[in-house]
Amino acid sequence: MKIAHSIAEYAALRSRLDGDAAPRVVYVPTMGALHEGHRSLIKLAKSLGKVVVVSIFVNPLQFGPGEDYARYPRPLEDDLQVCEAEGVDMVLVPSVSDLYPPGRQVTLDAGTLGSVLEGHSRPGHFSGVLTVVLKLFNIIRPHAAVFGQKDAQQLACIQRMVIDLNLAIEIVGAPIVREPDGLALSSRNIFLTLSERAVARSLSAALEKAATQTSVPSARAAAYEVLDRAEAEPCFELDYATIVTPSTFAEVPDDHVGPATFVVAARVGGTRLIDNTTINFAPAPWA
Ligand code: PAJ
Repeated sequence: MKIAHSIAEYAALRSRLDGDAAPRVVYVPTMGALHEGHRSLIKLAKSLGKVVVVSIFVNPLQFGPGEDYARYPRPLEDDLQVCEAEGVDMVLVPSVSDLYPPGRQVTLDAGTLGSVLEGHSRPGHFSGVLTVVLKLFNIIRPHAAVFGQKDAQQLACIQRMVIDLNLAIEIVGAPIVREPDGLALSSRNIFLTLSERAVARSLSAALEKAATQTSVPSARAAAYEVLDRAEAEPCFELDYATIVTPSTFAEVPDDHVGPATFVVAARVGGTRLIDNTTINFAPAPWA
């Protein structure tokens, strides 16, 4: 496995792959603190191409003031071991100054899609995500890139960016990896205390209940039954629980039929958690 600590080092490695028999390069962008969710993305990437590239970069541009940029975990040695064990070919670990030289002016705007829900609670977040992902796409030069459905709105923003900016990169979504009790794996789960961890399970429990329902109102009601109970706990503060159209993240009407994404976000203690599930709403039997 080759490790590039700068954009220039990576460019030198990448140029060796150019030529007539250029292998398919599949890319997994990450912020490190790699867990089974990231591993599943790498495994999927390996099945999709010949050369797998991972980047590890905690992107300051996508953290708001007062968010957890400074305390975000950075276990680089462990992460490199995970990459090695998963058969990653190249890892890019750039520095902040390499990726963001002084004088920066241009950023991307994620539009309405990037300003609702997560974007509303975290102003500028998706602009920061899209800006770094586009930069990394230009540096890595992949044929395909894998993103987790865990961050459903991020995945939608990236799919929109690829269409709107005519990027010749295939975007592949990967299913959410969960703990045995349902909690979606996240690099932030390590911040949860034992009691917070028990309450955190309410997010996936609410989604599970909702997914057994056939209509939007009943799915909403089923989820809120669980979330209302969690809100009785002082450490739990619900941000949103909404059923949206997967591509636009606009709220679906009560009579919606077909696939939709139920997205939830909450603060559990000092940790912000998000989760989602896809529900295929059936037509009413009399329709
Ligand atoms: P990070 O949070 O490290 O996540 C990297 C990738 O792993 C994302 O595509 C995310 O959706 C996926 N992922 C995280 N937890 C997962 C889980 N439990 N199951 C499946 N996939 C999961 O997302 C980012 O980094 C950044 O915003 C990034 C795209 C790297 C840009 O900075």
